[in-house]
Amino acid sequence: MRELQTSFAGLTLKNPFIVSSCSLTNSAEKNKKWEDAGAAAVVLKSLFEEEIEAELVHAQQDAHAEELDYLKTYYRAHRLENYLQLIKESKQLCSIPVIASINCYRRADWLQFARHIEEAGADALELNIMSIRSEADEVYGSYEQLHIDILKQVKTVVNIPVIIKLGRNLTNYIPLVDQLYANGAAAVVLFNRMATFDIDIEKLACTQGNALGQSNDLSEVLRWTGLIAGQVPKLNIAASGGISEGASLVKALLAGASVVEVCSALYWNGAGCIEDMLTFLKEWMERHGYESIPQFQGLLNAREGNTPKMFERTQFFSNYSLRND
Ligand SMILES: Cc1cc2nc3c(=O)[nH]c(=O)nc-3n(C[C@H](O)[C@H](O)[C@H](O)COP(=O)(O)O)c2cc1C
Repeated sequence: MRELQTSFAGLTLKNPFIVSSCSLTNSAEKNKKWEDAGAAAVVLKSLFEEEIEAELVHAQQDAHAEELDYLKTYYRAHRLENYLQLIKESKQLCSIPVIASINCYRRADWLQFARHIEEAGADALELNIMSIRSEADEVYGSYEQLHIDILKQVKTVVNIPVIIKLGRNLTNYIPLVDQLYANGAAAVVLFNRMATFDIDIEKLACTQGNALGQSNDLSEVLRWTGLIAGQVPKLNIAASGGISEGASLVKALLAGASVVEVCSALYWNGAGCIEDMLTFLKEWMERHGYESIPQFQGLLNAREGNTPKMFERTQFFSNYSLRND
């Protein structure tokens, strides 16, 4: 019997498959369905600071001054109350851990709400801080510092594990992640996916690109999982991005991830892909003589003596072989 148990962010999970934050986890009924399909945990759809702020801006345009204070309080409280309800209902229906997710892109003042998330019964809290920085006068490096500042602030109000989900638009991951670990992060998620951007050349308009990811998103996830696992070995990592089949799950674990957080493959292939991936993992472990995940987790991370140069390779040197050369 192969043992698929793993630990992530202080939680003991029956296997390394987590359904990541997206609309697939925005109701307790959906979350129960993921549990029944074999998922070890779910991350709830994020509660978005940005969205609440946008609603407030809209309200400000229409409202009389005296109504504004009431509206601000109402919008925020209403959104937050719905989210707490989602946590409570998911906890009632599911026996797997339920991880809450909040998006905080600018200020951390309303993160006091994190305490209510903990009280509602969330097993952990994932912070989704990703945003595009587009102001020329922003101090270089302040976006990275924002991650550390928000983590510190949230850690003062909750005792549950705090997980930081990173975007792909950060610089210097290793020192950043080292600082996150030093300031109490229980884990990091590599990486969040940005809503994509495109241009319609006939309508001469900006449009949205494809929402869902593809299997070739995996390469950078493996690179950074391996590098971070080699340099900051005590910090748990969730690989997220391009985990589309059993082989990519095995690769993520070999690079050093404790778990995978999957979204697009569930949209593409449905709930059955959870069992497919876990069955592949068990069969692969059997073929390679592994009884449990810790026996091979991080075996190919970028530690000294383990081909770290492969992870650091960025240039197509002259000896790089291409199929049609
Ligand atoms: C349609 C869609 C909605 C998403 N919503 C959220 C979200 O609310 N919060 C979040 O942290 N990540 C969100 N993500 C990112 C996913 O959780 C996941 O980290 C990312 O898509 C990479 O995994 P994948 O390649 O399996 O899709 C979303 C992704 C997609 C495609």
